[in-house]
Amino acid sequence: MIDSAVKYIRSKIPASPEVAIILGSGLGGLADKIENPVYIDYGELEDFPVSTAPGHKGRFVYGELNGKRVICMQGRFHYYEGYTMKQIIAPVRVMRKLGAEYLIVTNAAGGVNKSFNVGDIMLITDHINFMGTNPLIGKNDDEFGVRFPDMSFAYNPDLRRLAAQCSASTGVEIKEGVYLGCTGPSYETPAEIRAFRTLGADAVGMSTVPEIIAASHLKFKTLAFSLITNMAAGILDQPLTEEEVLETGARKGAEMQKLICEIIGRI
Ligand code: HPA
Repeated sequence: MIDSAVKYIRSKIPASPEVAIILGSGLGGLADKIENPVYIDYGELEDFPVSTAPGHKGRFVYGELNGKRVICMQGRFHYYEGYTMKQIIAPVRVMRKLGAEYLIVTNAAGGVNKSFNVGDIMLITDHINFMGTNPLIGKNDDEFGVRFPDMSFAYNPDLRRLAAQCSASTGVEIKEGVYLGCTGPSYETPAEIRAFRTLGADAVGMSTVPEIIAASHLKFKTLAFSLITNMAAGILDQPLTEEEVLETGARKGAEMQKLICEIIGRI
């Protein structure tokens, strides 16, 4: 499935992408900034999964962004949609096989760290896998990477330094923290959020962890950001809603785009 997707996409694009991008819930706007775009709907690809999550379009967009050749996933796959872990990471493998060396991942997340505010952008420094599984379980495919991939530098230190410089030059403020990944689709309980805070989490969400594990396996140089779209359960005296998540994405997505464009230009 991966080889056939790579072959098909190669036949549609003029050159190898340098940077791969995964856009999270409500953050798909960056794809609209891509120049000379080539759109490849996931539906065109043999046996490829199709996005069903709200705020996700379901296609690759190839083109130029701030002088770099990029391929962007406008819409990703989540475990809660019923896909297998292998399906979730397939597009990451496809983008690496197409030649991309860098991967930038975004997501919408709940703020666990009480010093965060809705609308904050958090540079992910590390993650905690609370999904109860791992996308690399099963026979290892040596073509992609080693059996036991190191995760010490999964969130690339050089790219994190570049992100801090770009934050200063663009004036887009960033926080830093640890992302904890759950399966969803139910949001967490207040007791779970208290437990996650004790464990060292600053934000919680339903994506990113499988993709980052696959990216480490593939030796992608990876950078990831969470947009804090809501405070996690139990912090404020109000229920969590999907509308809030999408609304914050729509309101603050432009800042995240500005920061990411600057980073891509300077990679
Ligand atoms: N929990 C899990 N996933 C999320 C949240 C949250 O509070 N907000 C956005 N995605």
